[in-house]
Amino acid sequence: MPYNQRVSNDADDSVNASTRYCAVFGHPVRHSASPAMQNAGLRALGLNWRYLAFDVHPDDLRAAIEGARRMGFIGLNLTVPHKLAALEMVDVLDDEARTLGSVNTIVFEALDPSGPWTPVGGLDAPPNREVRSRGLNTDADALVQALKEEFDWESLGGATVLLLGAGGAARAAALRLAREGLAALYLVNRTQGRAAELAAEIAKSCPGTRTILGYPPESVNLVINATSLGLKAEDPLPIDAQWLQTRRPRFVYDMIYRPMETGLLRAARSAGGRAANGAGMLLYQGTRALELWTGRPAPVKVMRAALEKNLYG
Ligand SMILES: NC(=O)c1ccc[n+]([C@@H]2O[C@H](COP(=O)([O-])OP(=O)(O)OC[C@H]3O[C@@H](n4cnc5c(N)ncnc54)[C@H](OP(=O)(O)O)[C@@H]3O)[C@@H](O)[C@H]2O)c1
Repeated sequence: MPYNQRVSNDADDSVNASTRYCAVFGHPVRHSASPAMQNAGLRALGLNWRYLAFDVHPDDLRAAIEGARRMGFIGLNLTVPHKLAALEMVDVLDDEARTLGSVNTIVFEALDPSGPWTPVGGLDAPPNREVRSRGLNTDADALVQALKEEFDWESLGGATVLLLGAGGAARAAALRLAREGLAALYLVNRTQGRAAELAAEIAKSCPGTRTILGYPPESVNLVINATSLGLKAEDPLPIDAQWLQTRRPRFVYDMIYRPMETGLLRAARSAGGRAANGAGMLLYQGTRALELWTGRPAPVKVMRAALEKNLYG
Protein backbone atom coordinates (compact mmCIF):
# COMPACT_ATOMS: atom_id res chain seq x y z
CA MET A 1 0.00 0.00 0.00
CA PRO A 2 1.41 3.43 -0.88
CA TYR A 3 2.80 5.58 1.87
CA ASN A 4 -0.23 7.59 2.88
CA GLN A 5 -3.05 5.80 1.14
CA ARG A 6 -6.41 5.71 2.85
CA VAL A 7 -7.60 2.34 4.04
CA SER A 8 -10.99 1.57 2.54
CA ASN A 9 -13.69 0.59 5.02
CA ASP A 10 -13.50 -3.11 4.24
CA ALA A 11 -9.73 -3.25 3.84
CA ASP A 12 -7.57 -5.38 6.06
CA ASP A 13 -6.53 -2.86 8.64
CA SER A 14 -3.88 -4.96 10.35
CA VAL A 15 -0.39 -3.56 10.64
CA ASN A 16 1.67 -4.03 7.48
CA ALA A 17 4.90 -2.79 5.95
CA SER A 18 3.32 0.52 4.94
CA THR A 19 2.01 1.33 8.42
CA ARG A 20 3.34 4.60 9.86
CA TYR A 21 3.64 5.36 13.56
CA CYS A 22 3.05 8.03 16.17
CA ALA A 23 3.51 7.45 19.89
CA VAL A 24 3.32 8.85 23.37
CA PHE A 25 6.42 8.68 25.59
CA GLY A 26 5.90 8.78 29.35
CA HIS A 27 7.25 7.26 32.54
CA PRO A 28 5.05 5.56 33.58
CA VAL A 29 2.74 5.41 30.58
CA ARG A 30 0.64 2.29 31.20
CA HIS A 31 -2.52 4.21 32.07
CA SER A 32 -2.41 6.63 29.15
CA ALA A 33 -5.74 7.04 27.36
CA SER A 34 -4.06 8.59 24.32
CA PRO A 35 -3.62 5.36 22.27
CA ALA A 36 -7.36 4.58 22.46
CA MET A 37 -8.29 8.15 21.52
CA GLN A 38 -5.70 8.65 18.78
CA ASN A 39 -6.13 5.24 17.14
CA ALA A 40 -9.89 5.87 16.94
CA GLY A 41 -9.10 9.18 15.23
CA LEU A 42 -6.63 7.59 12.80
CA ARG A 43 -9.14 4.86 11.92
CA ALA A 44 -11.85 7.44 11.30
CA LEU A 45 -9.50 9.33 8.97
CA GLY A 46 -8.77 6.06 7.14
CA LEU A 47 -5.04 6.32 7.65
CA ASN A 48 -2.78 3.31 7.80
CA TRP A 49 -1.09 4.75 10.89
CA ARG A 50 -0.92 3.49 14.47
CA TYR A 51 -0.41 5.33 17.74
CA LEU A 52 1.70 3.48 20.32
CA ALA A 53 2.74 4.08 23.93
CA PHE A 54 6.29 3.64 25.21
CA ASP A 55 7.57 3.78 28.76
CA VAL A 56 10.73 5.85 28.26
CA HIS A 57 13.01 6.48 31.22
CA PRO A 58 13.99 10.17 31.47
CA ASP A 59 17.64 9.22 30.92
CA ASP A 60 16.67 7.72 27.56
CA LEU A 61 14.38 10.46 26.28
CA ARG A 62 16.86 12.06 23.91
CA ALA A 63 17.78 8.70 22.37
CA ALA A 64 14.12 7.69 22.09
CA ILE A 65 13.18 10.91 20.23
CA GLU A 66 16.15 10.41 17.94
CA GLY A 67 15.16 6.77 17.37
CA ALA A 68 11.62 7.77 16.44
CA ARG A 69 12.99 10.39 14.02
CA ARG A 70 15.28 7.87 12.35
CA MET A 71 12.57 5.22 12.13
CA GLY A 72 10.26 7.52 10.22
CA PHE A 73 7.71 8.23 12.95
CA ILE A 74 5.14 10.88 12.08
CA GLY A 75 5.17 12.51 15.50
CA LEU A 76 5.15 12.10 19.27
CA ASN A 77 3.29 13.15 22.36
CA LEU A 78 5.20 13.61 25.59
CA THR A 79 3.65 13.21 28.99
CA VAL A 80 4.88 13.23 32.60
CA PRO A 81 7.80 13.65 33.27
CA HIS A 82 9.17 14.58 29.81
CA LYS A 83 7.54 17.88 28.86
CA LEU A 84 10.22 20.13 30.34
CA ALA A 85 13.29 18.08 29.37
CA ALA A 86 12.14 17.90 25.74
CA LEU A 87 12.58 21.69 25.39
CA GLU A 88 16.31 21.04 25.00
CA MET A 89 15.94 17.97 22.80
CA VAL A 90 14.03 19.13 19.74
CA ASP A 91 15.66 20.62 16.65
CA VAL A 92 13.17 23.50 16.41
CA LEU A 93 11.10 24.90 19.24
CA ASP A 94 7.77 26.56 18.58
CA ASP A 95 7.44 30.02 20.20
CA GLU A 96 4.44 28.95 22.29
CA ALA A 97 6.27 25.91 23.68
CA ARG A 98 9.24 28.12 24.55
CA THR A 99 7.01 30.65 26.33
CA LEU A 100 5.08 28.00 28.22
CA GLY A 101 8.22 26.03 29.05
CA SER A 102 6.75 22.72 27.97
CA VAL A 103 6.68 20.45 24.91
CA ASN A 104 3.83 17.93 24.71
CA THR A 105 3.85 17.36 20.94
CA ILE A 106 6.61 16.71 18.44
CA VAL A 107 6.07 16.89 14.69
CA PHE A 108 8.74 15.35 12.49
CA GLU A 109 9.30 17.49 9.43
CA ALA A 110 11.13 16.81 6.17
CA LEU A 111 12.45 19.13 3.51
CA ASP A 112 9.85 19.11 0.76
CA PRO A 113 11.40 18.97 -2.72
CA SER A 114 9.81 22.39 -3.32
CA GLY A 115 11.64 23.88 -0.35
CA PRO A 116 9.75 24.34 2.91
CA TRP A 117 9.85 22.02 5.91
CA THR A 118 6.70 19.88 5.85
CA PRO A 119 5.24 17.47 8.45
CA VAL A 120 6.22 14.00 7.27
CA GLY A 121 2.61 12.89 7.78
CA GLY A 122 1.57 15.15 4.92
CA LEU A 123 4.06 13.76 2.40
CA ASP A 124 2.97 11.50 -0.44
CA ALA A 125 6.15 9.45 -0.21
CA PRO A 126 8.48 8.53 2.67
CA PRO A 127 10.96 11.33 3.33
CA ASN A 128 14.29 10.63 1.70
CA ARG A 129 15.90 13.82 2.88
CA GLU A 130 16.78 15.37 6.18
CA VAL A 131 14.13 15.08 8.92
CA ARG A 132 13.96 17.37 11.93
CA SER A 133 11.86 17.46 15.11
CA ARG A 134 9.63 20.45 15.92
CA GLY A 135 8.46 20.82 19.54
CA LEU A 136 5.07 22.35 20.26
CA ASN A 137 2.61 22.71 23.10
CA THR A 138 -1.07 21.91 22.56
CA ASP A 139 -2.04 21.68 26.27
CA ALA A 140 -2.64 25.34 26.96
CA ASP A 141 -4.84 26.06 23.94
CA ALA A 142 -6.71 22.87 24.78
CA LEU A 143 -7.45 24.17 28.28
CA VAL A 144 -8.89 27.42 26.91
CA GLN A 145 -10.98 25.51 24.36
CA ALA A 146 -12.28 23.10 27.02
CA LEU A 147 -13.16 25.93 29.42
CA LYS A 148 -15.14 27.77 26.76
CA GLU A 149 -16.97 24.63 25.74
CA GLU A 150 -17.71 23.31 29.25
CA PHE A 151 -18.97 26.62 30.57
CA ASP A 152 -20.51 28.07 27.36
CA TRP A 153 -18.15 31.04 27.27
CA GLU A 154 -17.35 33.04 24.17
CA SER A 155 -14.30 34.53 25.81
CA LEU A 156 -12.42 34.64 29.10
CA GLY A 157 -11.81 38.35 28.72
CA GLY A 158 -12.57 40.23 31.95
CA ALA A 159 -12.87 37.06 34.06
CA THR A 160 -11.38 36.67 37.52
CA VAL A 161 -9.61 33.34 37.98
CA LEU A 162 -8.17 31.48 40.97
CA LEU A 163 -5.51 29.02 39.82
CA LEU A 164 -4.44 26.28 42.24
CA GLY A 165 -0.90 24.96 41.65
CA ALA A 166 2.37 26.22 40.20
CA GLY A 167 3.78 23.07 38.55
CA GLY A 168 4.18 22.47 34.83
CA ALA A 169 0.47 22.39 33.98
CA ALA A 170 -0.32 25.43 36.13
CA ARG A 171 2.52 27.41 34.61
CA ALA A 172 1.38 26.73 31.05
CA ALA A 173 -2.23 27.50 32.03
CA ALA A 174 -1.33 30.76 33.79
CA LEU A 175 0.83 32.08 30.98
CA ARG A 176 -1.79 31.16 28.37
CA LEU A 177 -4.77 32.50 30.37
CA ALA A 178 -2.92 35.76 30.99
CA ARG A 179 -3.19 36.38 27.24
CA GLU A 180 -7.00 36.07 27.37
CA GLY A 181 -7.40 39.49 28.98
CA LEU A 182 -8.35 38.35 32.50
CA ALA A 183 -9.39 41.02 35.01
CA ALA A 184 -7.33 39.27 37.70
CA LEU A 185 -5.43 36.01 38.20
CA TYR A 186 -5.01 34.73 41.76
CA LEU A 187 -2.31 32.13 42.38
CA VAL A 188 -2.30 29.67 45.28
CA ASN A 189 0.28 26.90 45.70
CA ARG A 190 1.58 24.75 48.54
CA THR A 191 5.11 26.03 47.88
CA GLN A 192 4.52 29.75 47.81
CA GLY A 193 7.91 30.52 46.27
CA ARG A 194 6.89 28.71 43.07
CA ALA A 195 3.69 30.73 42.83
CA ALA A 196 5.74 33.92 43.34
CA GLU A 197 8.12 32.89 40.55
CA LEU A 198 5.16 32.27 38.26
CA ALA A 199 3.65 35.65 39.12
CA ALA A 200 6.97 37.31 38.28
CA GLU A 201 7.07 35.52 34.96
CA ILE A 202 3.54 36.64 34.07
CA ALA A 203 4.43 40.20 35.03
CA LYS A 204 7.29 40.02 32.54
CA SER A 205 5.52 38.30 29.64
CA CYS A 206 2.01 39.74 30.14
CA PRO A 207 2.40 42.96 32.11
CA GLY A 208 -1.27 43.90 31.58
CA THR A 209 -2.51 40.98 33.71
CA ARG A 210 -3.16 41.71 37.40
CA THR A 211 -1.61 38.73 39.19
CA ILE A 212 -2.13 38.37 42.93
CA LEU A 213 -0.72 35.77 45.31
CA GLY A 214 -3.18 34.13 47.70
CA TYR A 215 -6.94 33.69 47.97
CA PRO A 216 -9.20 36.42 46.62
CA PRO A 217 -11.21 38.27 49.25
CA GLU A 218 -14.37 37.92 47.14
CA SER A 219 -15.53 35.15 44.83
CA VAL A 220 -14.10 34.66 41.33
CA ASN A 221 -15.66 33.65 38.01
CA LEU A 222 -13.55 30.53 37.72
CA VAL A 223 -11.42 28.22 39.87
CA ILE A 224 -8.94 25.87 38.14
CA ASN A 225 -7.20 23.02 39.89
CA ALA A 226 -3.79 22.35 38.37
CA THR A 227 -2.36 20.51 41.38
CA SER A 228 -2.14 16.73 41.56
CA LEU A 229 -4.40 16.68 44.63
CA GLY A 230 -7.49 14.66 43.78
CA LEU A 231 -5.81 11.87 41.84
CA LYS A 232 -6.12 9.63 44.90
CA ALA A 233 -9.37 9.05 46.77
CA GLU A 234 -7.72 9.89 50.10
CA ASP A 235 -6.28 13.24 48.92
CA PRO A 236 -7.40 16.37 50.76
CA LEU A 237 -9.10 19.13 48.77
CA PRO A 238 -6.64 21.29 46.80
CA ILE A 239 -8.56 24.37 47.99
CA ASP A 240 -9.43 25.93 51.33
CA ALA A 241 -12.85 24.33 52.00
CA GLN A 242 -14.00 27.33 54.01
CA TRP A 243 -13.21 29.70 51.13
CA LEU A 244 -15.09 27.44 48.68
CA GLN A 245 -18.18 27.21 50.87
CA THR A 246 -18.38 30.90 51.63
CA ARG A 247 -17.39 32.36 48.21
CA ARG A 248 -19.25 29.71 46.16
CA PRO A 249 -17.51 30.24 42.79
CA ARG A 250 -19.84 29.70 39.83
CA PHE A 251 -17.41 27.66 37.70
CA VAL A 252 -14.80 25.13 38.81
CA TYR A 253 -12.50 23.21 36.45
CA ASP A 254 -10.34 20.35 37.66
CA MET A 255 -7.54 19.37 35.25
CA ILE A 256 -7.69 15.87 36.73
CA TYR A 257 -9.83 13.53 34.62
CA ARG A 258 -9.39 10.27 36.51
CA PRO A 259 -11.34 9.83 38.77
CA MET A 260 -14.25 11.30 36.85
CA GLU A 261 -15.43 13.24 39.90
CA THR A 262 -12.75 14.51 42.26
CA GLY A 263 -13.41 15.74 45.79
CA LEU A 264 -13.07 19.30 44.48
CA LEU A 265 -15.74 18.80 41.83
CA ARG A 266 -18.09 17.25 44.41
CA ALA A 267 -17.49 20.09 46.83
CA ALA A 268 -17.93 22.71 44.10
CA ARG A 269 -21.25 21.21 42.99
CA SER A 270 -22.54 21.01 46.51
CA ALA A 271 -21.64 24.70 46.90
CA GLY A 272 -23.92 25.39 43.91
CA GLY A 273 -21.23 25.74 41.23
CA ARG A 274 -20.88 24.25 37.77
CA ALA A 275 -17.96 21.86 37.61
CA ALA A 276 -16.06 19.99 34.90
CA ASN A 277 -13.11 17.63 34.90
CA GLY A 278 -10.00 17.68 32.69
CA ALA A 279 -11.18 15.20 30.05
CA GLY A 280 -11.99 18.04 27.64
CA MET A 281 -8.46 19.41 27.96
CA LEU A 282 -7.02 15.94 27.34
CA LEU A 283 -9.27 15.54 24.30
CA TYR A 284 -8.32 18.86 22.71
CA GLN A 285 -4.56 18.54 23.27
CA GLY A 286 -4.91 15.25 21.37
CA THR A 287 -7.11 16.53 18.54
CA ARG A 288 -4.71 19.44 17.99
CA ALA A 289 -1.73 17.08 17.89
CA LEU A 290 -3.50 14.87 15.35
CA GLU A 291 -4.25 17.88 13.19
CA LEU A 292 -0.60 18.93 13.28
CA TRP A 293 0.51 15.45 12.19
CA THR A 294 -2.13 14.89 9.50
CA GLY A 295 -2.89 18.43 8.31
CA ARG A 296 -6.57 17.46 8.43
CA PRO A 297 -9.42 18.30 10.81
CA ALA A 298 -9.57 15.80 13.66
CA PRO A 299 -12.68 13.61 14.00
CA VAL A 300 -13.49 15.11 17.39
CA LYS A 301 -16.71 13.17 18.09
CA VAL A 302 -15.06 9.81 17.44
CA MET A 303 -12.03 10.71 19.54
CA ARG A 304 -14.18 11.99 22.42
CA ALA A 305 -16.23 8.78 22.46
CA ALA A 306 -13.08 6.60 22.44
CA LEU A 307 -11.50 8.70 25.18
CA GLU A 308 -14.56 8.56 27.42
CA LYS A 309 -14.91 4.82 26.90
CA ASN A 310 -11.27 4.31 27.82
CA LEU A 311 -11.43 6.57 30.88
CA TYR A 312 -14.83 5.71 32.28
CA GLY A 313 -15.92 2.45 30.60
N1 LIG B 1 -6.33 17.31 31.64
C1 LIG B 1 -5.14 17.32 31.08
O1 LIG B 1 -4.98 17.18 29.86
C2 LIG B 1 -3.93 17.57 31.95
C3 LIG B 1 -2.73 18.01 31.36
C4 LIG B 1 -1.63 18.23 32.20
C5 LIG B 1 -1.74 18.00 33.57
N2 LIG B 1 -2.93 17.57 34.09
C6 LIG B 1 -3.07 17.33 35.55
O2 LIG B 1 -2.62 18.50 36.23
C7 LIG B 1 -2.04 18.13 37.48
C8 LIG B 1 -0.67 18.79 37.64
O3 LIG B 1 0.22 18.29 36.67
P1 LIG B 1 1.70 18.91 36.52
O4 LIG B 1 2.27 18.30 35.31
O5 LIG B 1 1.66 20.39 36.67
O6 LIG B 1 2.43 18.31 37.82
P2 LIG B 1 3.64 18.97 38.64
O7 LIG B 1 4.48 19.80 37.76
O8 LIG B 1 4.24 17.84 39.39
O9 LIG B 1 2.91 19.95 39.69
C9 LIG B 1 2.18 19.43 40.76
C10 LIG B 1 1.44 20.55 41.47
O10 LIG B 1 0.64 19.96 42.52
C11 LIG B 1 1.04 20.47 43.78
N3 LIG B 1 0.98 19.41 44.78
C12 LIG B 1 1.46 18.15 44.64
N4 LIG B 1 1.25 17.46 45.78
C13 LIG B 1 0.63 18.30 46.64
C14 LIG B 1 0.17 18.18 47.98
N5 LIG B 1 0.29 17.03 48.67
N6 LIG B 1 -0.43 19.24 48.56
C15 LIG B 1 -0.57 20.41 47.87
N7 LIG B 1 -0.13 20.59 46.61
C16 LIG B 1 0.46 19.55 46.00
C17 LIG B 1 2.45 20.96 43.56
O11 LIG B 1 2.76 21.90 44.57
P3 LIG B 1 4.29 22.24 44.96
O12 LIG B 1 4.76 23.25 43.96
O13 LIG B 1 4.18 22.76 46.33
O14 LIG B 1 5.04 20.94 44.88
C18 LIG B 1 2.35 21.56 42.16
O15 LIG B 1 1.72 22.81 42.21
C19 LIG B 1 -1.96 16.60 37.50
O16 LIG B 1 -3.05 16.12 38.25
C20 LIG B 1 -2.16 16.22 36.04
O17 LIG B 1 -2.80 14.96 35.92
C21 LIG B 1 -4.02 17.35 33.31
